[in-house]
Amino acid sequence: MKILVAITGASGALYAQRLLDNLDPTVHEIHVVMSHYAQQVIAHELPAGLRLPAGVQTHNLKSMNMPFASGSNPPDVMVVIPCTMGTLGRIAHGYSEDVLLRAADVVLKERRRLILVPRETPLSLVHVKNYELLLLAGATILPANPSFYAGAKTVTELADTVVARVLDHLGVPNKLAPRWAEEDE
Ligand SMILES: Cc1cc2nc3c(=O)[nH]c(=O)nc-3n(C[C@H](O)[C@H](O)[C@H](O)COP(=O)(O)O)c2cc1C
Repeated sequence: MKILVAITGASGALYAQRLLDNLDPTVHEIHVVMSHYAQQVIAHELPAGLRLPAGVQTHNLKSMNMPFASGSNPPDVMVVIPCTMGTLGRIAHGYSEDVLLRAADVVLKERRRLILVPRETPLSLVHVKNYELLLLAGATILPANPSFYAGAKTVTELADTVVARVLDHLGVPNKLAPRWAEEDE
């Protein structure tokens, strides 16, 4: 699969890190693009910075010289993780002024999979209406809401309860977080 991981300036840079840690660039073609504010939040939340696995291809936000800027070369799936309300709103309304937004526009119009992992609370009606628009356009909205039933003992394990669901929706087999009633199966 060609997978585009887009990282924006919402809290939860760890979700992006854990997703990248669990995607194998020898199995999938992995591309990364970051918003300007993503870099600010990463600096704040990941003191060692974002670790990019070898083989991951990074792209300049402000250059349209990237395959996914065109409908002729879309990724199979794009994940925006974590996703700000700003980026979510811009995608919902078709803004395409940088390559992250344009790629999301391309993914929707070419009927590829777009998975958004928003992080915001509480939600306003503006946010909910943008969720509605994106669901109608075919996106998957997978909020960064960790689950507690698996007994996570660290922040990373808690983040992994979200990342495991992202991997499930990507179609990437994983045992990242215990599944409910797994021992009964
Ligand atoms: C430390 C930090 C945490 C933030 N957390 C969130 C958040 O959880 N959700 C959100 O929608 N915006 C959050 N923001 C605000 C966004 O970064 C801001 O709206 C920015 O313009 C979004 O730009 P982008 O969508 O291009 O990344 C945060 C900003 C900072 C500095």
